[in-house]
Amino acid sequence: MPLTRLKPEFPTEIIQEGQTRVVVPKLKEFVKQPCEYAPSKAPVFYNPVMELNRDLAVLAVQAYQKRIGREITVCEPLTGCGLRGIRFAIEVKGVGKVVIGDINEKAFSLASYNVQMNDLQKCVAIKNREANNLLSCYGAPRKRFDVIDIDPFGSPVPFVDSALRALRNHGLLALTATDMASLCGVHSKACIRKYGGRPLRTEYCHELAIRLLAGCAATTAAKHDIGVRIVFSHRGEHYVRVYATIEYGAGNADESLGNMGYILHCFRCFHRETLKSYPDIKPPEKCIECGSKLNTAGPLWLGNIIDPEYCASMERQIETKKFRLAVSMRKMVALIESESNAPIGYYVIDKLCDMLSLPVPSVKYVVETLKKEGFQAMPTHFNSRGIRSDISACKLTAILQDLTDKAHKRT
Ligand SMILES: C[S@@+](CC[C@H](N)C(=O)[O-])C[C@H]1O[C@@H](n2cnc3c(N)ncnc32)[C@H](O)[C@@H]1O
Ligand SMILES: [Zn+2]
Repeated sequence: MPLTRLKPEFPTEIIQEGQTRVVVPKLKEFVKQPCEYAPSKAPVFYNPVMELNRDLAVLAVQAYQKRIGREITVCEPLTGCGLRGIRFAIEVKGVGKVVIGDINEKAFSLASYNVQMNDLQKCVAIKNREANNLLSCYGAPRKRFDVIDIDPFGSPVPFVDSALRALRNHGLLALTATDMASLCGVHSKACIRKYGGRPLRTEYCHELAIRLLAGCAATTAAKHDIGVRIVFSHRGEHYVRVYATIEYGAGNADESLGNMGYILHCFRCFHRETLKSYPDIKPPEKCIECGSKLNTAGPLWLGNIIDPEYCASMERQIETKKFRLAVSMRKMVALIESESNAPIGYYVIDKLCDMLSLPVPSVKYVVETLKKEGFQAMPTHFNSRGIRSDISACKLTAILQDLTDKAHKRT
């Protein structure tokens, strides 16, 4: 079909992201009021703000391809204008075949146009199908994909089961969740319903969100006798993202369920502790620090949410590619890597100081002080005011108090 016949009949423009050029809806033509969310007003979904998410996806898929060392196949069944899937085909070395799909006919047409415009007809196949329906066609041995990227509106949970069935042994599953109100505890019932775990509105709720999503992937995989390992995860402005590799076998499934458990949190003194137990739970009733009632998050994933080697491989890939956001990406991936062995749950200094009515010191100063005192301490990509440390909440509040007293004495 000639390219002009596929050209969409709504306002579009050509954009470049990474090394890829595609036609996207001209977003400013679709917003009537400044408060409107432009991507969802356009006939085909395109969100320029997700560039970093897609850049990191390119890195993660490249790191995966390097790890397995052969040509790979990729599926992106909720593709919108096709940008993410087309970027995999163009920017990831060693990608043999990409299948992209979307239920929206206009998205399908625009993605088809973009595939043709990039001369990728031999490498990228496009389907105008419902995502579960599409994935089900690839659920048989020898048809499965090496990588599946689920990047939907809201929760990826409705697609996790069919994605796992369409993924090869040792494959990579990437999941974006944008339903942060559920995962961060504003709508706990929705979270329990979808992810099978209770969220909590703590200062580290975005980490809990990743752990709830990872836990859901692990329990869903376990039903198919599949184990999971989380190789990379990160928080974005309005979403969380998890990358998991899978391994067939009941033993692997049991092993990954061994990473499930609960996080107990005290809203009075910020004490938190983990309880590796699944599915049973018998939590202590009172906070060991202040005696208040403990609140429970989970069941969720208590295992690693970063594989430092995988992260280092992603970091190396940044230098081999051209990204507009390379500088911030380099910083972010390095920070995430540095957090890989950190204790679960971070402190937000402003929140602690607010409770204690103390002036807020810099994160750098607190990190240095904690290290001098012999504690593990580092900043976190989750929150620019956050600190990961093995110090107890009680000792940390004492140190913050002490820093203020010393500062007063000096003045
Ligand atoms: C968030 S957008 C995808 C953005 C895209 N992944 C990217 O990186 O630019 C979600 C897309 O999923 C499509 N969609 C929603 N429900 C679907 C379903 N059940 N099956 C297939 N596509 C679906 C929508 O039409 C929309 O284009
Ligand atoms: Zn307490």
